[in-house]
This record gives sequence, C-alpha cells and structure tokens, in this order.
Amino acid sequence: MDVNHSAEHQLDPFPHYERMRETAPVYFDEQSGSWHVFRYDDVQRALSEYATFSSHMGGDDASGTGQLFSSSLIATDPPRHRQLRSLVTQAFTPKAVDALSPRIAGLTDELLEGFAVRGSADLIKELAYPLPVIVISELMGIPPQDRERFKRWSDVIVSQTRTGAANEDHTAANVEMTEYFLALIDQRRSRPGQDLISTLLAAEIDGQKLTVPELLGFCALLLVAGNETTTNLIGNAVLCLAENPGTIDRLLREPALIPQAIEEVLRFRSPVQSMYRLTVAETTLGDEVIPAGAPIVAWIGSANRDERQFQRPAEFDVDRGHNRHLAFGHGIHFCLGAPLARLEARIVLEALLSRLPGLSLEPGAHLERMDSTIVYGVKALPVSW
Ligand code: HEM
Repeated sequence: MDVNHSAEHQLDPFPHYERMRETAPVYFDEQSGSWHVFRYDDVQRALSEYATFSSHMGGDDASGTGQLFSSSLIATDPPRHRQLRSLVTQAFTPKAVDALSPRIAGLTDELLEGFAVRGSADLIKELAYPLPVIVISELMGIPPQDRERFKRWSDVIVSQTRTGAANEDHTAANVEMTEYFLALIDQRRSRPGQDLISTLLAAEIDGQKLTVPELLGFCALLLVAGNETTTNLIGNAVLCLAENPGTIDRLLREPALIPQAIEEVLRFRSPVQSMYRLTVAETTLGDEVIPAGAPIVAWIGSANRDERQFQRPAEFDVDRGHNRHLAFGHGIHFCLGAPLARLEARIVLEALLSRLPGLSLEPGAHLERMDSTIVYGVKALPVSW
C-alpha cells in the first residue's frame, strides 16, 4: 500500500484517497511511523477530539512547519489555545471582516485593471496571490515593500519533501522569517499603531503578556498560513469554473449562488488537504487501535470526497446544499480566517464573472500542482477571455 504520494498522486490524489477509504481507511505507514486517516467520520474526530488528538506536535513538528509555528494557536491545546484564540477572534468575526469589503473590492478592481485589457493572464500571479497578501499585510501593518518576501518564504514553508522532513531551504526560510518578525515586533513595541501586531503586543492573559514565541507564532500563522490557502481557494475556484462552463453561465444568471459555489470548491478541491495531530492516549479509529504518542495525518481532501457523507462526491455541483465539508477544519481549531477567505473569494469571483466574460483556461495549458501534499493548488493558472 502506498501512502507516499508520488508525483502522480500529487497531481490527482483523489483516486488514491478513494482506494484508501475502501481498503485501508486507517493506515499505519511504517516508513514515516504515522497513521493516515481517510474517512470523513474519522477525520472529523481526529480534528476535533483535542483531548485525544493533540495539536501540539513538539518543537520541530512532524508537519515540517518547524519552530515558528510550534507556539502558535494552531499548534496549541486547551487551555492555552482558548486564551490565545480569544485575543484575535474580534478581528475576524464575519461582522469585522465585512467592514473590509469595500477595500477588498477596491484592491480587486485595481489588480484587474492591471491586466483586464490584455485578454490573457496568469491569474495566480496577478490576482489570487497578491490580493490576500495585501489584505492581511494591511491588517497587520506590514509595509508594502516587504510583501514580496512572504511569497518566497511561504512557498518554501508549504512545500514539503515527500517524507515530511525539513530541508535546508526550509530552515533558512524559517530563520529569515523569524528575524524579520522580531524586528517588526520591536518596531511596534516602540511605536504602536492600529494594527493587529500592536493589539497582540498590548494584550494580556491573566496579567501576563504573550511570550515572544507566541507573538512570532501569530505573525507566521496569519501571514503565511492564511495567504497561500486563500490564493489556492481563488485559483481552485477558477479551475472548477473553467472545467464546468455551464456553471459560469449559471452564476452569471444567479450571482446569489456564488457563496454556495465557493463552499463546493472548498469541498471538491480543498486548499488544505491534510492536518496533523499527535495522540496523547491510546485510542481506536475505525478498526485500528492507535497507541499514545502516534503522529496522525487526517486527510481532509479525502474526507471531503467520502461517499459515506456526500452523494456523488466526485461531481462538482454548485447546487449541493447542506455541504458539511471539513475544508476549514472542525471544532476548536476551526479556521479563524474562514470569513475573510470566503469574502475575498466571493468578491474576486463576482469581479471575474462580470469583468472578464468568456474566461477560460488557455488552450493546451499545462497545470502543475504546488510542491506540497498539504496545500492543494496550481503554481500558475493561464487563462484568457
Ligand atoms: C486554522 C484552512 C484561510 C487563519 C485552519 C484549519 C484549516 C484551515 C483546515 C484548521 C487547522 C487544524 O485543525 O489544525 C484554511 C483554508 C483557508 C484558510 C482552506 C482559505 C481558503 C485563512 C486565513 C486566515 C487563516 C485567510 C487568517 C487571516 C487561520 C488560523 C487558524 C486556522 C489562525 C488556527 C485556528 C486555531 O487553531 O484555533 N485553517 N484557512 N486561515 N486558520 Fe485557516
């Protein structure tokens, strides 16, 4: 049985997931020493039962994300998790995020202006990548000239070797990013502003300030984890529409369906395919008894195609209601940035449909998936209209 995601699996992992759901839904991979979980119910349990499945993977964790994230919200268990999360929930409620709508729409228009007259573009490079970076950078008070660096760092950080081990590039990117954030935190400490970093610096939990690793963890998580994923949500949405031209007509006639279409993209081509956990006690998943201290890989991308949960799961269907996909996780770690990602995707799709009629993939375009088994998206998306 192969869970090592060869190049073939990387481009189209879905047949592999289907096979695993049928034949080995909870599978121990001897080579990596981790357990792979493929069915919806089991993935949901692994993501949400934090007393058994810990998010704290240790200093240099098995997900390969390294030190920078190890003290962040996403890698913390209760009670610390609840405390940390409460510091940032206000900034990301649907209401707070809705207030950003005019700015996001304005930025989308500006970016579109840059290439709309040309008739063709790489939508990742010119729209889906820059938009989320600018939005989160503005929220966090990152100077515009520094944004380009994140592209490089986040590319390196989300790309993973097949074994999940960190490599030299990975370590270097972590070091550079840590130095950058330390300098930025110092700057904000002496000159606070209205941004999220200043808010986090002022915050106290039971009279205690956040530790430096916790501050660094927040910066890294917000600036990297949320960007790449939103870029891929937008890219994957355009890909799904390009493959289903009837859907484009449908959404043009019924723009109110766009949010539901975005949920279907999240299910069908989940930007995050897998998340990691570590068992803290012996437990049973499916028919398998898993010991304490075992790394778990919960395959969200497989859960979202599970025929036990979804009818016709291999079909992209914008009419799918009651879409209980796990693309943003489940339970206490449910994605904090979900309202923001959904809003950005909606604004972009509305703009693309109305401003670039006839949008389709460049004929003969060779699509290459990003070098990651965790993040799912294409490196470039050449389209014309
Ligand atoms: C958590 C996916 C966008 C910030 C998560 C988790 C998933 C996820 C699956 C759960 C992790 C776990 O259970 O271990 C996505 C996807 C996105 C997206 C698919 C875009 C389509 C964003 C954005 C931001 C963000 C835009 C911030 C601006 C976070 C944070 C957490 C998180 C802070 C950790 C929450 C916690 O541990 O309590 N995301 N995310 N995400 N996401 Fe997102």
